[in-house]
Amino acid sequence: MDVSGLNRPAPLLFEDEVDSTNLRIRDLARDGAVEGTILFAAAQTAGRGRMGRSFLSPPGGLYASMLLHASEEPARDLTLTPGVAVAVSRAIRRVSGVACGIKWPNDLILQNKKLCGILVESFTVGARRELVIGIGINVNTETFPPSLVTAISLYQATGQRCALEPLACALTEELDRFIAAWRADSACVLKDYRRLCLNLGRTVRLSDGRMGTAVDVDEAFRLLVRFPDGSEEAVSYGEVSVRGLYGYV
Ligand code: BTN
Repeated sequence: MDVSGLNRPAPLLFEDEVDSTNLRIRDLARDGAVEGTILFAAAQTAGRGRMGRSFLSPPGGLYASMLLHASEEPARDLTLTPGVAVAVSRAIRRVSGVACGIKWPNDLILQNKKLCGILVESFTVGARRELVIGIGINVNTETFPPSLVTAISLYQATGQRCALEPLACALTEELDRFIAAWRADSACVLKDYRRLCLNLGRTVRLSDGRMGTAVDVDEAFRLLVRFPDGSEEAVSYGEVSVRGLYGYV
């Protein structure tokens, strides 16, 4: 990939195939990689997803991980993942013209299916806590296995192939821009997030079985849910599943 036009202090690294860019970034960090280092891979053999799931990563997708020092307040770092979703959506839109939505907290959605997943993990290097922001975008994948009926690629959505190089450049620029803004204000993309969030105004089902309507996203990127009795609750990531998206009923 030629990304020589990008002028940034931290390196961009490229591999044809790795097990998981998130895992490789850990190794690189332990070998002294600097903050902001991004590793791109053309394919992954053991892509990691949220909640211990795997993330199918065949050639044709864009798989990337960025190294970041954790902040002093873990609660602040929780705002990173939804913010990154906005940054990735901007990159995709810039390069392909495709406008995707966000399923709270951080899946990018197109035609009610998942276009991109984001996984932020923390780990330690000595006494220091580090973060890796992992991003997997289904770009030119032609078909997914039947078990992944909820996945979609840009190619499937548009019928056009999207060159990976400009997308990698746009992703890098948008991530760098977002991280700089996020350091000053952890809710810097909240306005865009609310606009893109597909859950707002829709029914959500909490993991404890309660149903309500998602009415807002607060500054900590918690989802504000209104229940039929009129009460409201701000729920954090991990507590909510969503009805009506992905073709689920
Ligand atoms: C999810 O939706 O479950 C999160 C998927 C995150 C996948 C990306 S691909 C690049 C990075 N490396 C990994 O092993 N996972 C993330």
